[in-house]
Amino acid sequence: MTSCSAMSPGSPAPDPGFAACFGAEPEAWAAAPGRVNLLGEHTDYNQGFVLPIAIPQQTRVALRRNGQDVFRLHARELGLSLRFTLDTLPAEQFARYVYGCLVEARAGGAEVPPLDIHIASEVPMGVGLSSSAALEVATLRALRQLLALPLDDVQIAQLAQQAEVLHAGVRCGIRDQMAASLADTRRALLLDTRSLARRFVPLPAGGEILVLDSGLARSLAASGYNQRRAECEAAAARLGVASLRDLPGLQALPAVERLPEPLNRRVRHVLTENDRVLRAADGVDAASFGALMNASHASLRDDYEVSTLDLDRLVALLQSHPDVYGARLTGAGFGGACVALCRPARLAQAATEVLEAYGASGGQGRVLVPPQDLTS
Ligand code: GLA
Repeated sequence: MTSCSAMSPGSPAPDPGFAACFGAEPEAWAAAPGRVNLLGEHTDYNQGFVLPIAIPQQTRVALRRNGQDVFRLHARELGLSLRFTLDTLPAEQFARYVYGCLVEARAGGAEVPPLDIHIASEVPMGVGLSSSAALEVATLRALRQLLALPLDDVQIAQLAQQAEVLHAGVRCGIRDQMAASLADTRRALLLDTRSLARRFVPLPAGGEILVLDSGLARSLAASGYNQRRAECEAAAARLGVASLRDLPGLQALPAVERLPEPLNRRVRHVLTENDRVLRAADGVDAASFGALMNASHASLRDDYEVSTLDLDRLVALLQSHPDVYGARLTGAGFGGACVALCRPARLAQAATEVLEAYGASGGQGRVLVPPQDLTS
């Protein structure tokens, strides 16, 4: 593995660094955003409802046919270059996302020639903002452009999810790939992950999104995630349904309470979380939206048990700030980031005050959204 030099900030689009790496301009390029999920956590693999919104940070992928018999890949932020073929799964996790997309596109009938591929990403990695989905969707969009593939944005999201499940070892739902492919930064995307029916939902008036990193890497995320998934599947089987979505919503709670621990609490989270998503998407004001976020965090902490003490501390500081309507952990949990709905004019001040208090108790947080340091 070698490294190749990145270009300076401010280099022209489409992808600063491609020519420096590969000695020619790319033939195709595309971008896709990260996302933050406002409500609807651990609901997508239960065929439920989710409410993500795109963040300003994007991942860009540029491609060129290289006329060789190997793919050459460079990831600017990681400073890594490597080579692979479509016959062998690469060892590096980030390369598996790209490899998975190429293999799945080929499985769908595309003739994928060996390529030079350059990745430049502003999306923070490993904090729950879906850098992997952004990479997958940007890769597939660039490939669609290069090969004129007849794929719409939903099909791109479906291929991206397949890539992650089959080649990157994560049994994720489809929320993040749909968000990277279809969401925008101004309105949240209400998505029914069973039917893929969707509509845009404006943020409540007087509310703006703040995302803070707890500074704690997600630990146990993969094992904990797969365990929660298995618990939901076990609960569904006991309740005689194929998916928790087949339950009649909150009306199923009395039967759910009779399940053994912890399955009763896992299902209670999923049912109440679906209800919170639908209520939030119904056009509530900022205070009500914030209250739903607070209730979501309590449910993730107590019923789903995917929070950590540090996330709880940071969320509590946000929730008690006078300029914050509500806050919760976002993403799979087990570390990573928190999302809050704030008064726009007071957002920077609120972030500073909360991070100071978090720092005074030993935490090392930072602002992720709005982006503080977009350099390219
Ligand atoms: C990860 C997965 C998503 C979703 C969340 C939990 O981000 O990629 O599909 O299941 O966890 O809400």
